[in-house]
Amino acid sequence: MPLNDYNRDQLITEARKLTETFRRFQDANLKLDLTRGKPSTAQLDLANGMGPLLLEQCFLEDGTDLRNYGGLDGIPEARKLGAAMLGLHANEVIAADNASLTLMYLYVLWAYHFGPLGAGTAWRDEGDVKFIAIVPGYDRHFSVCEEVGIEMVTTPFAEDGPDIDVIEELVSKDSSIKGMWCVPKYSNPTGHVYSSEVVDRIAALGRMAGPNFRVIWDNAYGVHDLRDNPPVLANIMERCRHYGTEDFVVQIASTSKITVAGGGISFLGGSKPNLDTFRKRLSIMTIGPNKLNQQRHVNFLKNFGGLQAHMRRHAEILRPKFAMVQQHLEKGLGGKGLATWSDPQGGYFVAVDVRPELAAEIIRMAGEAGVKLTPAGATFPYHCDPEDRNIRIAPSFPPVEELDLAMQVFVNCVELASVQYRLKEIGG
Ligand SMILES: Cc1ncc(COP(=O)(O)O)c(C=O)c1O
Repeated sequence: MPLNDYNRDQLITEARKLTETFRRFQDANLKLDLTRGKPSTAQLDLANGMGPLLLEQCFLEDGTDLRNYGGLDGIPEARKLGAAMLGLHANEVIAADNASLTLMYLYVLWAYHFGPLGAGTAWRDEGDVKFIAIVPGYDRHFSVCEEVGIEMVTTPFAEDGPDIDVIEELVSKDSSIKGMWCVPKYSNPTGHVYSSEVVDRIAALGRMAGPNFRVIWDNAYGVHDLRDNPPVLANIMERCRHYGTEDFVVQIASTSKITVAGGGISFLGGSKPNLDTFRKRLSIMTIGPNKLNQQRHVNFLKNFGGLQAHMRRHAEILRPKFAMVQQHLEKGLGGKGLATWSDPQGGYFVAVDVRPELAAEIIRMAGEAGVKLTPAGATFPYHCDPEDRNIRIAPSFPPVEELDLAMQVFVNCVELASVQYRLKEIGG
């Protein structure tokens, strides 16, 4: 029965029962964690076959000695892998070191100070600089903007991706908006996959935006499908070529959640002018990436087909965990009007929207019962969720038994906080 149909006495009885359960969890001295959006040990073990290189594997056919300096763009086979992940040609991709976050940070920092296309294009020379932040979103994207001094304007999601009507209006009216963060497939944390229409309209944004606008297309979860017959993301660069807007999109990916997080390959893809400008700056910062690591990856994954087969093994490990989260949410909260939540077909997160003004309280209570949740507001710029509703759940890391227990605690906290709030609302 929906919570709002309970009368005062029923609410008091319910609060009593839920409090008893909550106390039992407290007494159990649990130490559980649902904050970590990282691969589990079993997932990392899938890449154990990626051993060190033998000496004869340290040379490319053209004689390149991978142990030495150079090769700023990365080795050709690694670029090919990144190109397949991003739907680009290999010469449109730079294969870099271990973190795509570094590439995004550098891209934004350099565009701000030196310009996305070099002299005369620096964002900072145009006065105020703003970015569109689709919310809820990835906290580290927002931290990059905060760090560089870029103001964020939030935009909500619609069913099939970000609310593109709102974005078109903002971008066409405000030329100080210089960019937008997108996680187009299995968005962090909601799991949205942008529809073909949304991708098409994002590709066209360059025609209505002010000068030097850039979409940062962070396809971090592009190959992280949980189920067979996954949704297909339209190729944004194809749509950009159609509109003549190739320079307005920069594409990003990495193998962090494919092989080893912290020790993989990152990719930055885009038009020739974008890559040339980025490369020029990169060459000041480094003489070249870790080509030995790139070669280890290529030897292990072989090609895009090999990478996809590897991802199916990840999915086998992750599927039961995501299913368990859904079971608990459905069984504990379904039909009660206490929360809505995403049921993503891939990626790393489940987003739960509780009743307004309750997210922080639920997170606090869960902490008291021994379950750590991502801090309230983390999925919004400046850590401010205006409605205090969104909670990000990361099921990948804990073992299934721990996840089971942690979700019981979570559901209990959502119910208890909601009942207590409702009692206050009706003056009980
Ligand atoms: C959307 C998104 N982009 C980037 C990253 C980080 O990627 P990397 O390990 O390649 O820096 C994450 C990690 O959680 C993410 O969720």
